[in-house]
Order: sequence, then C-alpha cells, then structure tokens
Amino acid sequence: MEYFFSHFAYFAFKAPGFNIAFIHFFGPIRVSFPQLGETALTNPAPVLEIRSLHKSYGELEVLKGVSITANRGDVVSLIGSSGSGKSTLLRCCNLLEDSQQGEILFKGEPITWTGKGLSRRPSDPKQVLRIRTNLSMVFQQFNLWAHMTILQNVMEAPVTVLGRDRDEAEASARRYLDKVGIGDKCDVYPAQLSGGQQQRAAIARALCMEPEALLFDEPTSALDPELEQEVIKVIKDLAAEGRTMMIVTPVMRLAADVSDTVVFLHQGVIEEKGSADEVFGNTQSQRLRNFLNTDPPRTAALIKAPHLAATPPLVCCAKETTKTKSKNW
Ligand SMILES: Nc1ncnc2c1ncn2[C@@H]1O[C@H](COP(=O)(O)OP(=O)(O)O)[C@@H](O)[C@H]1O
Ligand SMILES: [Mg+2]
Repeated sequence: MEYFFSHFAYFAFKAPGFNIAFIHFFGPIRVSFPQLGETALTNPAPVLEIRSLHKSYGELEVLKGVSITANRGDVVSLIGSSGSGKSTLLRCCNLLEDSQQGEILFKGEPITWTGKGLSRRPSDPKQVLRIRTNLSMVFQQFNLWAHMTILQNVMEAPVTVLGRDRDEAEASARRYLDKVGIGDKCDVYPAQLSGGQQQRAAIARALCMEPEALLFDEPTSALDPELEQEVIKVIKDLAAEGRTMMIVTPVMRLAADVSDTVVFLHQGVIEEKGSADEVFGNTQSQRLRNFLNTDPPRTAALIKAPHLAATPPLVCCAKETTKTKSKNW
C-alpha cells in the first residue's frame, strides 16, 4: 500500500513527534507500509539491524561501532549510565540523528547515504519517511499537542502523514486508546490527564501509525512510581503481543521481564549483550556489575536471587513461561 506525502517531510520529522504543520504545507511523497499478513516467513530479515554504527557530535564520539539486531517480535532493552549513548542510538535508528559510519537496515533494506563522515546524510527522503513512520518513537516527555484532544492527538498523524481516511483513523485511535486503558479520555486535553495517562496516550498515538517497531526512550522516567507502573503494564502487554520494540529504560525489572536481548552500553560501546538471564543472572563485565550495584541497587540482587523478592510482582525473568508470542502481529 502506498500513500502520498511531502518530500520535504524528512526535515519535518527531525523534531520530536511529527511536525504536522510542515507536512500540511508541502506537497506529496509516497510511503510504503507493511503488507497485511507479512510474517517472518515472507520477510525473514530483521526489522532493524544496526551494523558497526559510529556517531559523533563534532569532536565527541558518542557511538563507537555499535551493532544490534531486532528480529520481528524481539524486545531489545538498552541499559547504561547517563551519557552512554542510549538516546543517541535510538535516534540514529529512526534517522532523527545522522551517523558517520556503519549501516542501518530496515527489513533488510539498507539506508542509502550521500556524503562521508560528518557530512554523511540519508540520500533518499522517501526512504527516511518510510522508515520513520515504521519505527514509532515514544519519548520521556510525551510530546502531545496541548491544543488538541487526546483523540485528535492520536489520529492526527495517521490522517495527515499516512493519508488515512478520517473515520477509519478515528475508529483505530479509539481502539488503541481503549487498549491502553484510557478509552474514556478521548475528548479531554493532555493537561487534564495524569502523566501516566498522557504517556499511555502517546503510546496509543505511536501504535495508531501501525508501525513495524516501537522505540521507547525512557518512557517512565518523567513519572512517579505509582504512575510508572501503569505505563510498564502497557509495555509488558505489548511485549506479550509480540511487538518488535527497542526500549531504553533505567527500570531493570522491566528490562528483565520483557527483553529477548539486553544491551549494556558503556561510553558508546556495547560492553555486554545477551538474554535477560545471561546479562542479569550471569553478569560478565565488572562495569555492568558496578552499574547494577549502584545505590540504590538496580534490582540486581532480586534479579539474581528472585526468592529474595519481597512481593510476587518483583519476581522476574519469567518472560519465557508467561509470554506467548505471536510473531505475526
Ligand atoms: N545534540 C547533541 N549535541 C552534542 N552532544 C550531544 C547531543 N546529544 C547528546 N550529546 C552527548 O552525547 C552523549 C550521549 O548522550 P545520550 O545519547 O543522550 O546519552 P544517554 O541517553 O545514554 O543518557 C552525552 O555525552 C551527551 O552530552
Ligand atoms: Mg537518554
């Protein structure tokens, strides 16, 4: 299926969230969307593959050859200290940031580049738009439009960016708002909602784009612990559905519960990578040990010794037994 949009929209998407006004203003471009029924069998390529990616801000080299693969239905968690490059990596994945070396492949399709080093840019704006719309990002700060109702926020990009029929988009938006548990908040404005509800609306907005994968950048970090749990529950539900996701999170319990792969970034390099059981239960790197044992301990003790958990919800690493994945979502 293809839709028509602005060929200038490449720049519009550089802002967090979609700069709808920009797309309204300029003319059309074609964007392809996943064919219905596409599965790991019909396209076995990973949804997202990063090969030896390097990214610098001027003199500062932030990513120093990072490689990550997210197959269809995989949940990849990125953990690491502040400043280790997690957000930068996520932003490079959906081309919100340029990178200087290495490859990014979306469903086996390599990003095409023009220029070299600090001048390297994606060469095909249509490809950029196609990839951005298929890798929906959820930010720490929600980024909802304050002047639009929740329903309008969720249906705006599908209508304006994807060219979907307004009634269909509204039905889909209502369905996703129901799914994240705020179906009764369609007609209120973001300021009338709690932070947890706003973040759930932002997740519904990302889902309404029908993306191939969701990229979360610390989705619970702006929330107090009580509200954090409602968002964590939504993310766990999405993982159980078999959504492909990359999640930057400081919540180790979340990473342990939902991840197929946990990646520990340290100063722009992957210091350790493996299943949640390997990374948390059989930690190899001293740096990761130090990271997990910071004060307060990042739940490492409980992850390594679940029997010490104070309450049942703290028991983790039970993903494989509780999660039934449909790789064909
Ligand atoms: N737009 C930017 N310009 C210059 N430096 C940046 C920019 N964004 C991030 N950085 C730097 O890149 C490094 C990694 O940042 P970031 O990816 O945000 O880390 P994390 O998400 O792991 O906390 C930090 O040193 C940060 O200061
Ligand atoms: Mg960050």
